[in-house]
Amino acid sequence: MSGLFITFEGNDGSGKSTQAKLLKDYLSKQGFCVSLFREPGGTEISEKIRDIILDNAYYKMKHMTEAYLYAAARCQLVHEKIMPALKGGQIVICDRFLDSSLVYQGIGRGLGVDLIEDLNRYATGGLKPDLTFFLHLDPGEAMKRRIEERELDRMENQKAYFHNRVYRGFLEIAEREPMRIATIEANRPLEAISKEIAGLTDRFINERGL
Ligand code: TYD
Repeated sequence: MSGLFITFEGNDGSGKSTQAKLLKDYLSKQGFCVSLFREPGGTEISEKIRDIILDNAYYKMKHMTEAYLYAAARCQLVHEKIMPALKGGQIVICDRFLDSSLVYQGIGRGLGVDLIEDLNRYATGGLKPDLTFFLHLDPGEAMKRRIEERELDRMENQKAYFHNRVYRGFLEIAEREPMRIATIEANRPLEAISKEIAGLTDRFINERGL
């Protein structure tokens, strides 16, 4: 498939949404056609599913229900938006993707990485990012940033040990696929982070061609 698929991952509060937007602006200025989506979300149906997943009222949600809902939202986004954009040769940036499910549901919730991988194979048709930026931030610092920011949603409201497991899960996944996943130290000024990400993206595009 032509096009380029870039994802951003990390704990809640790691600053990945800001960095995803900055990369989109950077690449657009160079003349690339870039689409930016967020997960869960990015389509009308996926945004509705997002509302259900993150609603604090649904504290009774089973872990498997949660895993299916994330996969359902992803399925819609992949087939309605991401695949057509990639086929058209665009750069697609996604604020979270499959790695979040592997880590939050597979490791954080304890459902197992293999099960989440199987489930999502049906949802994504096996689509994987070409390049992933994992914004690495100590879970204590991420928690501080979340609390300062706004009202917390159902996932952000999970206990500290859940977010610690998620943090360790990201480290594990990043270690497993060092060629795809670039670990970026997030406890630095915004500009330093965006510069590093832009440089790595430039290098990737030059090496692979687009
Ligand atoms: P997001 O809006 O990106 O949160 P934030 O901007 O705070 O990082 O994602 C919503 C929440 O959903 C976030 O807590 C991570 C969680 N999540 C999963 O548990 N599994 C998934 O597959 C995805 C995509 C997100």
